[in-house]
Amino acid sequence: MRVLELYSGIGGMHYAFQESGVHGNCVAAVDINTVANDVYKHNFPNVCLMNRNVQSISAQEINDLHIDTIFMSPPCQPYTRVGLQKDVLDNRSSSLFYVLELIPQIKLLKYILLENVKGFEKSEMRNEVLKCINNCGFNYRELILSPCQFGIPNTRYRYYLLAKKKNLKFCFDHTALNFNLPDDVLIALPKSKHNFLAETSCTPGMEISMEKRCYTLDKILENVEETQYLIPNKLLQKRAWVLDVRTSESRGSCCFTKAYGHYTEGTGSVYCPYSENIIKEAYSAASEYTHESVEVVEILGKLKLRYFTPREVCRLMCFPENFTFPKHTTDKQKYRLLGNSINVHVVGRLIFLLYNEN
Ligand SMILES: C[S@@+](CC[C@H](N)C(=O)[O-])C[C@H]1O[C@@H](n2cnc3c(N)ncnc32)[C@H](O)[C@@H]1O
Repeated sequence: MRVLELYSGIGGMHYAFQESGVHGNCVAAVDINTVANDVYKHNFPNVCLMNRNVQSISAQEINDLHIDTIFMSPPCQPYTRVGLQKDVLDNRSSSLFYVLELIPQIKLLKYILLENVKGFEKSEMRNEVLKCINNCGFNYRELILSPCQFGIPNTRYRYYLLAKKKNLKFCFDHTALNFNLPDDVLIALPKSKHNFLAETSCTPGMEISMEKRCYTLDKILENVEETQYLIPNKLLQKRAWVLDVRTSESRGSCCFTKAYGHYTEGTGSVYCPYSENIIKEAYSAASEYTHESVEVVEILGKLKLRYFTPREVCRLMCFPENFTFPKHTTDKQKYRLLGNSINVHVVGRLIFLLYNEN
């Protein structure tokens, strides 16, 4: 397999390809963001990384690289549910339109994987993508999946499109949008360390809600000095009531977005080193006072609430431990880049299925 990674960011797709166990190479990667490219280059110094706009890549260049696979996570702002949803009218959709013009011209192209936000499935852009791949003779499958369906204690629902040339055997036999991997497909997947962790940390007979099937957060925590990554008092005062607080025993966490680390509402969970009971008691005591009072800060400050560290977020997004950031990358940049990236394990499973011929 010879893969072209478009909108490559920090290389989540490249790691997913490695994790899938499929033989082949990520031959080239393209991204316009120099900070992301720095990280990509730091981890994959031998890949031909093009610091360019996707719209400047010609079909000839791609054909010269003998590419048979495209992995891509196009910008999601035009389709995100909390955004303006300008969809095809958003300027940031124009590069994906350009990719749709390229696809029919790539002679060896047999496999495509596209990732985007939940909401993309309802967009006009998605109809354009399907029109293109139908015309080019691909079978396809659309899925909306979250890492918590794979035993990983993190919620991150994302849209995935897998497309494969019609003459090749595809393990999905119909096109309906699916919110889970079908059982017959799940059986084909080899066991992973995440299955193992989830199975060994759940007691038999436990209530089977999605979150309960995940392993506990203690598996991803690092030793951090108490004062590091603390939620500042100012934020505690304003936002304490909307924080999603998790402990080492929690079996889930919210989606980490690119704003994690500076806005707290809806951008990801925060960590408390104490038990759920202690947290409940503190919140109950704090609720006796007016919401933004100093007493609230004093009581809740004792909980030592902190952000999950960039390494912990990496672990929740299933990046391998050998993934690192260059020394000069700031924490704010790390959260931003990770928030834009993908869950490596989920995509790795999908890549495995995309190439599977059984
Ligand atoms: C959703 S992120 C993809 C992240 C990537 N999958 C990862 O693992 O980090 C979208 C990426 O597309 C890049 N991008 C947006 N428009 C682009 C364009 N026209 N040409 C090249 N890259 C672009 C952004 O810089 C960003 O890194």
